[in-house]
Amino acid sequence: MYILGIETSCDETAISLIEANEASNSVRVLGNTVHSQIDVHIPYGGVFPNLAKREHAKNLIPVLAQTLEQAGAIESAPIDGPSVITPDLEPVLASIFTYEPELLEAVMAFIPTIRKPRVDLISITVGPGLTPALWVGINFARALSIIWNIPLAASNHMEGHILAALISKTDLPLGGPGTIVDATGSYDLLDRRITYPALSLLISGGHTQIILVEKVGSYKIIGQTRDDAVGECFDKIARTLGLQYPGGPKISALAAQARAEGIESPEPLPRPMISSDDFDFSFSGLKTSVLYLTKRLTADGKTLSVDQIKGIAREAEDAMTDVLVAKMKKAVEAFGIETVIVGGGVVANAHIRKALETLAVSEGLRILVPQIDHSTDNALMIALAGYFGRDKALAPGTELKAFGTLPVGPRI
Ligand code: KG4
Ligand code: ZN
Repeated sequence: MYILGIETSCDETAISLIEANEASNSVRVLGNTVHSQIDVHIPYGGVFPNLAKREHAKNLIPVLAQTLEQAGAIESAPIDGPSVITPDLEPVLASIFTYEPELLEAVMAFIPTIRKPRVDLISITVGPGLTPALWVGINFARALSIIWNIPLAASNHMEGHILAALISKTDLPLGGPGTIVDATGSYDLLDRRITYPALSLLISGGHTQIILVEKVGSYKIIGQTRDDAVGECFDKIARTLGLQYPGGPKISALAAQARAEGIESPEPLPRPMISSDDFDFSFSGLKTSVLYLTKRLTADGKTLSVDQIKGIAREAEDAMTDVLVAKMKKAVEAFGIETVIVGGGVVANAHIRKALETLAVSEGLRILVPQIDHSTDNALMIALAGYFGRDKALAPGTELKAFGTLPVGPRI
């Protein structure tokens, strides 16, 4: 089964084409492109939704072209006849792209120039995310599904982050954000090899959740942040310290330097809710503590020294890590868990990864972590969500809706 995954929920325009094999329970990634918009959003200090939307509209066709080209470069590339836009489709497409005229133009120009790729399902992120950004991807997926007469899967971005850790391959060069990532190759699916229920920790820019995974496709949220997500906390603390968006990677680099150089924070920072009797989180107090500490240190017109910035970065990263590990330890014990699945952009943080791996060793857990370039947003994970949700596939052209908030399952 060939699945085209499309992801536009935030500031990455990503398209992936995979071939899933049910018998061998494996997937082959035929093409996988991630175009990051980070540079465009830096001046705004965060992702600006309408700008993200505009950028997606501009990038979807080039990203599709790149993904198909990668797939075409593989000898057995599946090709399925001509790709034509018949005149009767033109008004349909015009109405789908009412708000994205330049994307309509790009679709009309590009699609007839290629052969129809063999695709059995188009999986599109319908939420959670920035609704203007989600809509562009949804409209694009619907248009392709109509032109090529291919069913649609409405996929959940957070489920994608869980599934990104359920594929395994070892010999892959790492890609980084801001570049085109080539992750073509073969992967085994691990869903049939793990003990359920498993526990998933999702840490991204918009989410911090602990999810009970009863099986793939069946999730219960047992804990989540009451205010800021951990990635958001990284980004906001970075801003307070005068570092550029996205701050997560910068904090983590400075924290690593502080550890190597033995630099401590001028003051300890709180570990909010670390001992609370639940699996919830709160990170806004930590962010505010950094703000107040910074204000105090710069009260009489001084600027923060490099060592102060490094020390605070280290302490902030330690505080977030301590809370995440403590809550996971508690949840693992409460639910008798053997397997932990980690996902979301913050998994790119080496310190947090290592702390979770240490927890896994001490608790005798199996821990599944996505490779770095699959931890931040990508469309491979959305193609996987489509594959696992194939029973719920919708007819070509089905109208879909964007959901800013879309829980993966009920809160218990
Ligand atoms: O999953 P993701 O790509 O997008 C969302 O769905 O939110 O996560 C992005 C978040 C950002 O907040 C970014 O600062 C954070 O992941 N992040 C990191 C690191 N790399 C990315 N946070 C801490 N350390 C990192 N190395
Ligand atoms: Zn994400």
